[in-house]
Amino acid sequence: MNENGRKVGSVMVVGGGIGGLQASLDLSASGYKVYLVDRNPAIGGVMAQLDKTFPTNDCAMCTLAPRLVDAGQHINIERLTYSEVEGVEGSAGHFKVRVKRKARFVDEAKCTGCAECVQHCLVRNYAYLETPLIVPKPEIDPEQNALLERITARYPGGPETLVPILQDINAELNWLPPEVLGRLAELKAMPLERILRIATFYKAFSLVPRGKYIIRVCTGTACHVKGAPRIIDRCAGELGIHLGDTTGDMQFTLEEVRCLGCCGLSPVVTVGDEIHGKLTPTTAAALIDQCAA
Ligand code: FES
Repeated sequence: MNENGRKVGSVMVVGGGIGGLQASLDLSASGYKVYLVDRNPAIGGVMAQLDKTFPTNDCAMCTLAPRLVDAGQHINIERLTYSEVEGVEGSAGHFKVRVKRKARFVDEAKCTGCAECVQHCLVRNYAYLETPLIVPKPEIDPEQNALLERITARYPGGPETLVPILQDINAELNWLPPEVLGRLAELKAMPLERILRIATFYKAFSLVPRGKYIIRVCTGTACHVKGAPRIIDRCAGELGIHLGDTTGDMQFTLEEVRCLGCCGLSPVVTVGDEIHGKLTPTTAAALIDQCAA
């Protein structure tokens, strides 16, 4: 305390979880300057990742959020995130603490949390190798290149055009060849990783070659109880492949799909864009024969 009876000095709280936050708020309310240190990029700790808390089943965020806001705005709390305590010297009442602040590589004052930097992060998008390895770019077939240029000309624009472009490539080639995706990344001037994120998210896209006829057996609940597993077994037997495989002559690919939205017709099989309902293993096998003929 100083001569006027006011508390002076500062304290350090290490750990910005719910306990550290509450301690910081209490200490700052008592008149101390608080340095709140957390080794993570943001305060909140484990509780920020929880849905409910034991044993009361209270919403974790409802408990944490007001404290986060208070600690974030309090004039007497200085947050040292992404920092670690390296050493403490001194004695009670007069400590000196050495804190190491890690580099963030972004200007915190300007950061809006848009996450654009994550998508362009060189560390994340390119594997770190001891010796730089130059991987030769796969050569694109001239026909595929011409097709890609036709498709991209239909969709001028940025990232919002990726899904329709990938749909058109997939419809033309039945899959998305890596060299085509590489060229698409060049044409759209965006990281290949961004295209791959979309290409691997949707089940309709394939990164491996598929047959001329793609047979999809619905294994949603309604189709499953009406005999989809037997249809899969019969089709796999007819084609001599397993689910997910393509025949050696590149004619048929057998896939499963979850609910096509026409459960009243279950069990349902699609061949390309055609939907066939109320099938039995025998009529499913007949479908394959028709395609083969
Ligand atoms: S479960 Fe197969 S169409 Fe809905």
